[in-house]
Amino acid sequence: MQASKSGGVAISVLVTGSDRGIGLGLVKRFLELPCPPRWVFATTLDLEAKETKEIKDMVCRHPNLVLLQLDVTILESIQAVLREVEKCVGDDGLTLLINNAGIWLFEDLEKENAADMQTIYSVNTIGPLRMSQAFLPLLKKAARKSPRQGLSTSKAAIINISSSLGSMEVMLIWEKAQVVSYRCSKAALNMLTKCQSLEYSTSGILTVAIHPGLVNTSRNPYPEITVEESTQGIVNVLSTLSEEDNGTFLDWLGRCVPW
Ligand SMILES: NC(=O)c1ccc[n+]([C@@H]2O[C@H](COP(=O)([O-])OP(=O)(O)OC[C@H]3O[C@@H](n4cnc5c(N)ncnc54)[C@H](OP(=O)(O)O)[C@@H]3O)[C@@H](O)[C@H]2O)c1
Repeated sequence: MQASKSGGVAISVLVTGSDRGIGLGLVKRFLELPCPPRWVFATTLDLEAKETKEIKDMVCRHPNLVLLQLDVTILESIQAVLREVEKCVGDDGLTLLINNAGIWLFEDLEKENAADMQTIYSVNTIGPLRMSQAFLPLLKKAARKSPRQGLSTSKAAIINISSSLGSMEVMLIWEKAQVVSYRCSKAALNMLTKCQSLEYSTSGILTVAIHPGLVNTSRNPYPEITVEESTQGIVNVLSTLSEEDNGTFLDWLGRCVPW
């Protein structure tokens, strides 16, 4: 991990959708840090699913790792997770919320439809909105408790895992995958990031959108990098973020992505 401008690691981290893929990779990278967070909260849709075996095994080895059931489309589920996190972190609040859970469907514009678009928006765009609103009081607590000046991921931050597919200027891999509702959901997530950055920075909370690269997770047929490369890059980038990065769209190497 690179030297941190902000001089430290988040005290507590919640990564949504972290029983596999990039979310699981992020959880691993946090746990591997020389000075790992006091609390790492991982979430899965289904605690009994066979895909959760790896993260459950990790829970047995890491007393600072807590696995929780979460569906970001269900308000009651978000509230239940909030209560569990609150019990652990108490007055310290939550330092870092990573809205990573996401879905995509391979539809061309011709076959795109309202039902699919609603489904994708509910996870990729409305999920991060609701998670951030629900956890705002805990993020504010962390920011108030922190002795650090300015904004940083070791004080209080929201990281929205976006995609260059949502960039209107880049339109990444359009020829291979139109995935229109996915692109729209991430473009909307980018706007949400900007709005959050303007509103929440006054409470000491940093907000940034990150494109993780084209990563070899289960559902990506066009990978360019591994989960390890992507998540190591992201964790490095997180450690360097400061006030000037608030409201930006960066990739896993810290490069600016055009909106
Ligand atoms: N892979 C890429 O190349 C790539 C590129 C750009 C951006 N991204 C973004 O990176 C993020 C992670 O992608 P990934 O490739 O790691 O995906 P993935 O392997 O398909 O994992 C997605 C995760 O999201 C969870 N999830 C799905 N619906 C959920 C819901 N309603 N509530 C809570 N969790 C839910 C899944 O839980 P279950 O396992 O329980 O189903 C899983 O843990 C997404 O936001 C994606 O859009 C990925």
